[in-house]
Amino acid sequence: MGGTSDVKLIVDGKRLDERTVDELRKIRIQTGIVPEADGSAFIEWGGNKIICGVYGPRECIPKHAANPYRAVIKCRYMMSPFASLEEHGRSGPSRRSTELSKVIREVFENVVLAKEFPNTQIELYMDVLQADGGTRTASITVAAVALANAGIPMKDMVSAVAVGKGGDELMVDLGKLEDNFGQSDVPLAFSAKDKKLLLVQMDGLLTRDEIAKILEMAEKSSEKINEIQTNALKDYYTKETEEEFKL
Ligand code: CDP
Repeated sequence: MGGTSDVKLIVDGKRLDERTVDELRKIRIQTGIVPEADGSAFIEWGGNKIICGVYGPRECIPKHAANPYRAVIKCRYMMSPFASLEEHGRSGPSRRSTELSKVIREVFENVVLAKEFPNTQIELYMDVLQADGGTRTASITVAAVALANAGIPMKDMVSAVAVGKGGDELMVDLGKLEDNFGQSDVPLAFSAKDKKLLLVQMDGLLTRDEIAKILEMAEKSSEKINEIQTNALKDYYTKETEEEFKL
């Protein structure tokens, strides 16, 4: 990040993976894949592979941490040591995973109807098996599907994407090189229906006009992502219904 590197992110008007500036990478989501969890989902987003398991609402442990007015949301983002080739060589929590767990938790604290479940906890675990830029936004996207799969009531669905600037162009869904060597990276999360901004982070510098354009590009992308999330849930529940009919 910072735009001083020699890596050319736009060559002959195209991005390194041939995408146009407003094109998302391929996204595939499958839900209900971990039988032991109350809800789960797996996402492949470009080269990212992330699995999410949800438990709860269930008894809050330790008991003294329980809130008599609402469920406590616990969130753990983790990148496995084999998730990427270079930088990430160790397992266990890091400053980065602590930050990401916190910002993801704050997103869901704003949509989960936690007041319905006082004295309980809702746990969200996201494990990045393969990382390729945009793991926080892909984690939020897959976690929203896993929460829905767990039957946890939410005000709205959440879809997230990182939009930024590389090679002096604004572009959606930054890949790893665009993220690491671009001029700016803005991960954003939106609620699907009322388009409330639930996460805004920013690396690098942008003008006011660029920020306005980025918000517009991200909102359009979030609609496409929401469609993929909805279809993943529909696929799962249609399959279940078909199986029930077979019995
Ligand atoms: O993943 P996200 O873009 O949300 O977070 P980041 O901190 O901006 O990282 C960008 C990308 O760099 C990640 O998606 C990984 O591909 C890579 N990375 C890594 O491999 N190991 C790290 N410790 C941090 C980042």
